[in-house]
Amino acid sequence: MTNSVPPSSSGSSSTTGRSLAGKRILLIVGGGIAAYKALDLVRRLRERGARVRVVMTAAARQFVTELSFVSLSGERVFDDLFSPTDEGAMGHIELSRDADLLVVAPATAHLLARMARGFADDLATTLLLATDKRVLVAPAMNVRMWLHPATQRNVAALHADGVYFVGPAAGDMACGEFGPGRMSEPLDIVAAIETALQGDTRLPLPAGLHGRTPAPARSLAGRHVIVTSGPTHESIDPVRYLANRSSGKQGHAIAAAAAAAGARVTLIAGPVALADPPGVEVRHVETARDMLEACEAALPADIFVSAAAVADWRVDVSASKVKKQPSGAPPTLVLRENPDIVARIGARKEGRPTLVVGFAAETNDLIANARAKLERKRCDLMVANDVSVDSGVLGGEANEVHLVSARGVETWPRQDKSKVAAMLIERLAEQLRRRQGAAGEPPIAEERQ
Ligand code: CTP
Repeated sequence: MTNSVPPSSSGSSSTTGRSLAGKRILLIVGGGIAAYKALDLVRRLRERGARVRVVMTAAARQFVTELSFVSLSGERVFDDLFSPTDEGAMGHIELSRDADLLVVAPATAHLLARMARGFADDLATTLLLATDKRVLVAPAMNVRMWLHPATQRNVAALHADGVYFVGPAAGDMACGEFGPGRMSEPLDIVAAIETALQGDTRLPLPAGLHGRTPAPARSLAGRHVIVTSGPTHESIDPVRYLANRSSGKQGHAIAAAAAAAGARVTLIAGPVALADPPGVEVRHVETARDMLEACEAALPADIFVSAAAVADWRVDVSASKVKKQPSGAPPTLVLRENPDIVARIGARKEGRPTLVVGFAAETNDLIANARAKLERKRCDLMVANDVSVDSGVLGGEANEVHLVSARGVETWPRQDKSKVAAMLIERLAEQLRRRQGAAGEPPIAEERQ
């Protein structure tokens, strides 16, 4: 499933600030035991500033009460398709359109089947059919129901329609079985909601929608883009590791932007607290050596973007926990240099991606260091950014980047990482067209400094 947030995601939404301020979520609650988690989801969404309107199916009422949702959402709960008062106050079409995103959680096998076939036999399915907004679904059901070909067919059909999925997760189930089918945790759903809502032009619109959002340019249709993102963790012993402060936000945003531009995207992600971007195939790795292996396995590609903060060194791992010595002598950690992933990809004689893009994370002599790395790592472009503590780039939402190529430097204003990602992807798409066409090789970056 490509437009999904897989169960392996360790996604936990940012708890900083009101990341969903002003967003309007229409939450459709299906009838499963996981409906109790939808109560927590409402709380988490409201904490982040979202307005949440809840629609319950008849089956959902068997598991949770309307009063709980009213208390948590601060709004009345909708459930009746044929209510004259509701149709007078706010018709069902208006209810589905007066939202930024529709979220179905939990989505039972039966509800998925009704959605896939386009039924409109209650308020929930009517709203889903009438909407011109994106739909994110969090399935929850018994493992055998999830794995049944009928459910898988329905999920594939919804996926082809552009519906986004988060989960299901694997684990112990209320029915006593084990496997995929558990509804994702509320924070994972919040993270997927944040991703699905990010920038109207960043994500592929569900097929066939005719909303107010303009369809993004499909400038990378038919291309394969590999992106690395996040830090790597290098084990010291079974309980400790070396890491860095990379959040993965910039790399994940680039992967999402490439998918929005129509590319097939493989995102090779170190350990991050972000949801997998919809529409992207994600490989989760831990160490630099795992990341290199996953990158090489994902080739061939048209574009390789190395946004990960790969650990430069690994440690000779101790099989048992390193203990404090009675003498107080500190342990000796022997560091070995990790393979330089982007340099290896850039130096490939066969199967080198047409464009190899590195990121230069610097705290001083930004441009000079980026130029040296461009050459040393045989990249076509180096995206240089200041990662000193004062810059707020590491872990932050914004980035000020300089595009450094053999021909010059271009400085972009400080802007949201998703905007940087969208602009970078458009620049790379343009460059790829020129490289692979007959039009020669105009510069990636114009001389500005
Ligand atoms: N990189 C990589 N593999 C490594 C180290 C870095 O692929 N083992 C990539 C990063 O993904 C980035 C680029 O190389 O695209 C530059 O990373 P950076 O940390 O800025 O540079 P380093 O090569 O690590 O050099 P230094 O730490 O000395 O600045």
